[in-house]
Amino acid sequence: MNTTNKRLLTGLQPSGDLHIGNYFGALKPYVDTYEQYESFIMVADYHALTSVQNPEILRSNIHNVVRDYLAAGVDPAKCVIFRQSDNQDHTELGWILNCMVTVPFLMQAHAYKDKVANGIEPSAGLFAYPMLQAADIVLYETDFVPAGEDQRQHIEYTREAAGKFNRAYGEVLKEPKEMILDGVGVVPGTDGRKMSKSYKNTIPLFGTPEEVEKAVKSIVTDSASDKPEHVYAIHSLLKSSSELDSLYEENKGHYGDLKKLLVEDLNTFLQPMRERRQQITDEDVRQVLKDGAKRAKEVSNKTLANVRLAIGID
Ligand code: ADP
Ligand code: TRP
Repeated sequence: MNTTNKRLLTGLQPSGDLHIGNYFGALKPYVDTYEQYESFIMVADYHALTSVQNPEILRSNIHNVVRDYLAAGVDPAKCVIFRQSDNQDHTELGWILNCMVTVPFLMQAHAYKDKVANGIEPSAGLFAYPMLQAADIVLYETDFVPAGEDQRQHIEYTREAAGKFNRAYGEVLKEPKEMILDGVGVVPGTDGRKMSKSYKNTIPLFGTPEEVEKAVKSIVTDSASDKPEHVYAIHSLLKSSSELDSLYEENKGHYGDLKKLLVEDLNTFLQPMRERRQQITDEDVRQVLKDGAKRAKEVSNKTLANVRLAIGID
């Protein structure tokens, strides 16, 4: 039940299949708390256009992300599930916020710098990405944004842009706070780097038990250490440290056995969500998005009207 009158919003890009890092970093914190707030969850499809430029793949990813939200336990009766591109207010406010910040400021964005360093083409869209995200957040007068550690700076940028707007035009936009949980800020991937769709080092959230097993088997381990640290880090998302410490002590040095235990625990955890996902039809997804678009606009239209009035375009 909404007890606080505060707003919660998060979003995921439909840029590929979700992995357990997305789940524990962003989706689970949302699912665990969203009923206490007036909550929104978005499919950030215009953001995904910075990396997915194949229409069939994008269309299918969008659909899949909505199914993933529903399967992960997000109830459309208790929050607004919507697609960013169904609401033009996002692109409009994104442009306005772009006019509030400077090029040197945007050039310092870690996500932009990392992507360019990894050889991704620096499109103008990728560069302006943080202001589209800022628009996503402030349009709904969001108080809290559950996300992984890598999103901290984007939320700081949102506060910065909203603050700058407010100093220029009066108090119109609310400055949000991040909600980043201890211990799940960065879930490691199978190669020890941050788990990410773009690094191909993921454990899929809705993969088959065999796919989960294959991914876990490929987790890198350091032969000089008794404890396989990445296996342990992922296991600690499912079990308490006291349970794990004795398990890892009993199986000291037996990496294969520890990985087997992790596969079992992951599959036990993921199975109910997999089953729920199979029950969701295309029609369910269409209905959820249709209803979500209407409810999202009712809120964002008001913020945008205030912004337009403030800037003199009303
Ligand atoms: P990816 O890096 O796989 O493309 P996104 O950038 O689409 O993931 O992130 C979607 C959400 O999932 C964000 O809130 C992000 O912080 C969270 N997230 C992504 N990877 C991880 C991770 N390895 N650990 C914790 N949270 C993560
Ligand atoms: N940038 C986020 C990511 O890569 C996705 C996103 C877009 C988002 N708009 C948002 C997250 C608004 C939280 C709030 O994961």
